[in-house]
Amino acid sequence: MALYSEKVMDHFRNPRNVGQIDDADGIGEVGNAKCGDIMRMYIKVDDDSKVITDIKFNTFGCGSAIATSSMATEMIMGKTIDEALELSNKAVVEALDGLPTHKIHCSVLAEQAVRAAVKDYYDRKGIEYNPEDFKEIEEDELHEHCGL
Ligand code: FES
Repeated sequence: MALYSEKVMDHFRNPRNVGQIDDADGIGEVGNAKCGDIMRMYIKVDDDSKVITDIKFNTFGCGSAIATSSMATEMIMGKTIDEALELSNKAVVEALDGLPTHKIHCSVLAEQAVRAAVKDYYDRKGIEYNPEDFKEIEEDELHEHCGL
């Protein structure tokens, strides 16, 4: 069996929503010094409905990080912020028909970047939130187990 599913290869070769949004409402950057991989996520949000109307990402991550981010942006586009926050890296990996076990951690980069972008949106707009909900992106433990 191939190491990577066709969906992973497709999103890796033709990643969706790559780039940046110059007038983004929220920007989230996460990374880990150990493997040197960085992910930046941009979101546009409709203030009234809280629907994410545009989302783009840039990454220096590996192929699995690119594929999971691409899939995550497709799944989040047009959803509300609350729905986006519920999207787990597990759901993204499932939508890609799986990743090799040692690459599962790469998918966390996308999930965390989305959360960081939402937090940035809340901060910019002065919207109150529970800091506990975003605790994990404050801690620099992301992806420590990547082994790279
Ligand atoms: Fe760090 Fe994949 S994102 S190795």
